[in-house]
Amino acid sequence: MRHIISPTDLNLSELNELLSLAEDIIRDPEKYSDACRKKKLATLFYEPSTRTRLSFESAMLNLGGSILGFSSADSSSSTKGESVADTIRVISSYADICAMRHPKEGAPYVASLHSSIPVINAGDGGHNHPTQTFTDLLTIKNLKGRFDNLTVGFCGDLKFGRTVHSLIGALSRYTNIKFILISPEELKVPDYIKEEVLLQNNIPFEEERCLVSAIPKLDILYMTRVQKERFFNEADYIRLKDTYILNSKKMALAKEDMLVLHPLPRVNEIAVEVDDDPRAVYFKQAEYGVYVRMALILLLLREAEGRKTC
Ligand code: CP
Repeated sequence: MRHIISPTDLNLSELNELLSLAEDIIRDPEKYSDACRKKKLATLFYEPSTRTRLSFESAMLNLGGSILGFSSADSSSSTKGESVADTIRVISSYADICAMRHPKEGAPYVASLHSSIPVINAGDGGHNHPTQTFTDLLTIKNLKGRFDNLTVGFCGDLKFGRTVHSLIGALSRYTNIKFILISPEELKVPDYIKEEVLLQNNIPFEEERCLVSAIPKLDILYMTRVQKERFFNEADYIRLKDTYILNSKKMALAKEDMLVLHPLPRVNEIAVEVDDDPRAVYFKQAEYGVYVRMALILLLLREAEGRKTC
């Protein structure tokens, strides 16, 4: 059974197939409106979400399928002590595919070991968020037109930001990519990503404290929120939360074709005045999330169906 736990679970050829399918869905959504008839998607969300859960559900409904699930741990039997392994065994007989978000790193991977339906990681703690990465890649492909020869700046909470960890891994597979990692000392990219992804693949990167110094060099600026829910100490969160605020004055220093991405939700890190700048594409990015998840559901269900009939 094929599961998607990390963005690199798809090789480059499979990733191209996913993005091409998402683009075909954008061109002709009607063609896919019945593609998952009688199929069910379970959304098992042990952590809050707006975009990921609702775009998964919208994706399955757009494909003519049905949805079931829960949107918080409190409304599931995990509050009675049920393990993820037992939950997924049961859900495997209720649904054809599932998307799981969990505060513990590795929980969707554990689920995949006990599942007889495809499991998609919809975000696990501060670790990975592969479907956000596929969304980010579709955004970059459509609005920037290339993955190679890019200087990409990640700004904000690079320690706990799982979308950052996943996108660094995915973009590191392309040619002539350079990263500028903009964060306070306390929120730097974890060492395991620097060692196992960047250094091992000879990807050039700089660590920078100042957004103003970095912004003129960037083709893409990926802003992130400081992840309040992952802090042990509220005083640290309050001290760090407004370290970076992107505003029109800073945007004036950027290239005319730089794109600003953000996985959302936004708190204070992008001033609302930036929303009208044509380089600010984060709401378009959220829209792409539905199409890429439609494509992923289709590919995984086709593969699972193929296995059954073989
Ligand atoms: N980008 C993202 O994961 O948003 P949600 O937390 O709202 O799903």
